[in-house]
Amino acid sequence: DKGNYRHFMAKEIHEQPEVIGHTLSRYLDLAARKAKVPDGMAVDFSGLTRLVMSACGTAYYAGLVGKYWFEKYARLPVEIDIASEFRYRELPVNPGEMALFISQSGETADTLASLRYCKAAGLTIGAVVNVPESTIAREADLVFPTIAGPEIGVASTKAFTCQLSVLASLAILAGRQRGVLTADQEAELVGALSEVPGLALKALALEARIEKLAPGLSRASDVLYLGRSTSYPLALEGALKLKELSYIHAEGYAAGELKHGPIALIDENLPVIVIAPHDAIYEKTVSNMQEVAARGGRILLITDEKGAEASGLADRDRILMPALSEIVAPIIYSIPIQLIAYHVAVFMGTDVDQPRNLAKSVTVE
Ligand code: M6R
Repeated sequence: DKGNYRHFMAKEIHEQPEVIGHTLSRYLDLAARKAKVPDGMAVDFSGLTRLVMSACGTAYYAGLVGKYWFEKYARLPVEIDIASEFRYRELPVNPGEMALFISQSGETADTLASLRYCKAAGLTIGAVVNVPESTIAREADLVFPTIAGPEIGVASTKAFTCQLSVLASLAILAGRQRGVLTADQEAELVGALSEVPGLALKALALEARIEKLAPGLSRASDVLYLGRSTSYPLALEGALKLKELSYIHAEGYAAGELKHGPIALIDENLPVIVIAPHDAIYEKTVSNMQEVAARGGRILLITDEKGAEASGLADRDRILMPALSEIVAPIIYSIPIQLIAYHVAVFMGTDVDQPRNLAKSVTVE
């Protein structure tokens, strides 16, 4: 049931404040200001030497953001790869490592094969899954549910932000267990995450502004998305969403890679969407952006007030986000990225909920 929405995707985008709230309530103890696992579960990250992750598509991008978090907040090294490569790589794995798979459907063939590879090697298997009765959930030792509810649109939206919410919480938990985060630091991170549902609502309020950008973007034959750090996986996700929904060719790049090749593409016909909250590495991204501007590139900057001021760009070239703490930013910046792809597709008249050639769950390799 689409309710009052035109598409399942629109409904699912708008459900995010609620379903992220449901998900976080399982992983955060707000009274104690601590991260936790769902009741009845136990997980121990303390002695791990490495976390091995694998997934496909959007779920893989959630894992990539998770990598930054586990490494930063828990000093836990992460190896991550797309499941279709992972399963054939013959990655050496060792006791003392944990494997973590991420999947909305819990039925993705390559992700399942990667899980079985790690299981056969004797690793403890964790799975962040949205469908609790799925094969991946059944075969995992530790199931970390996302409480996104059924996701019908082929393009993953609310499952992604719920996956990010679980991974952020687990990284904080791991940080405490590994003696990296102090109680105060944990309390601060948990407090920041607890604000995500309200902040997601604020980000959704940008929809009218984003809808106005759709006609301009729809005329492009290619779009480049740039970001650094946790905004880099978001650039990949933004490009995937746009391709899936509008069939416009798009690529996500780490902003620092620009001068290693893609800068050759820049001209007045190539929109460049820059994802850059005003964080520790903002200045670096701005200098990449200036390289684009100097070559006549069309920039759309997604940033906050401070970032906008420092950018020197005109209002029409930016989407203004609320100021966010670092751990929250990737979750909330997902929303304008989803809305851009959605509105470009609606404007172009493509089949938003069932794009051509795609299946919701990829059970063949
Ligand atoms: O069900 P899964 O999370 O395992 O699916 C993984 C990918 O097939 C999925 O995220 C796909 O990339 C989506 N269509 C992205 O919107």
